Amino acid sequence: MDLASVQSDIEKVIVSEEQLQTRLKEIARKIENDYKDQDLLLIGVLKGAVMVMADLTRHINRHVEIDWMAVSSYGSGTKSSGVVRILKDLDRDITGRNVLIIEDIVDTGLTLDWLTQNLKSRGAGSVEIMTVLRKPDAAIVKVDVRYVGFDIPKDFVIGYGLDFNEKYRNLPFIAVLAKHMYE
Ligand code: PRP
Repeated sequence: MDLASVQSDIEKVIVSEEQLQTRLKEIARKIENDYKDQDLLLIGVLKGAVMVMADLTRHINRHVEIDWMAVSSYGSGTKSSGVVRILKDLDRDITGRNVLIIEDIVDTGLTLDWLTQNLKSRGAGSVEIMTVLRKPDAAIVKVDVRYVGFDIPKDFVIGYGLDFNEKYRNLPFIAVLAKHMYE
């Protein structure tokens, strides 16, 4: 979906399609280097990570395996409860595997903090995180993220996997949602 289709819904584009793809290529080179001659399993967190998984993996010039998890961010509706529930689990055992979690955004950090611990407790050989976006000002817990696309302010952002009421995921760029859309 293009910019013209959502122009009146957004305040501004903060990461363009070109900036995204350029950064993903840089990260792909780093991943190739860091995991040279090592096993690598990418775990995407549904649904937001679908776009970055599709693009990042096509920039990586080596074999990778892909699996998916779906988690409900928060149990009782409050963002800071830190309660995470698994809605869809991995298809395979990850004992001894080098796992790289692929995310669209680290916001409070609660989901990734929980997920990292969960995957380590299953006996993964290593667990690292790649995220397209990170909001440093929104952090409640500190999460070590090995690969960050862009640090952004605390605004409500949509596009490239990120939704508002399940829409806007299919924008190829990232934009700040206009306040009149949710106020
Ligand atoms: C988003 C994102 C992370 C989580 C990050 O998922 O993909 O999983 O929120 O937030 P946190 O750092 O505050 O825990 P969301 O719950 O929106 O699900 P979705 O990907 O299906 O839209």
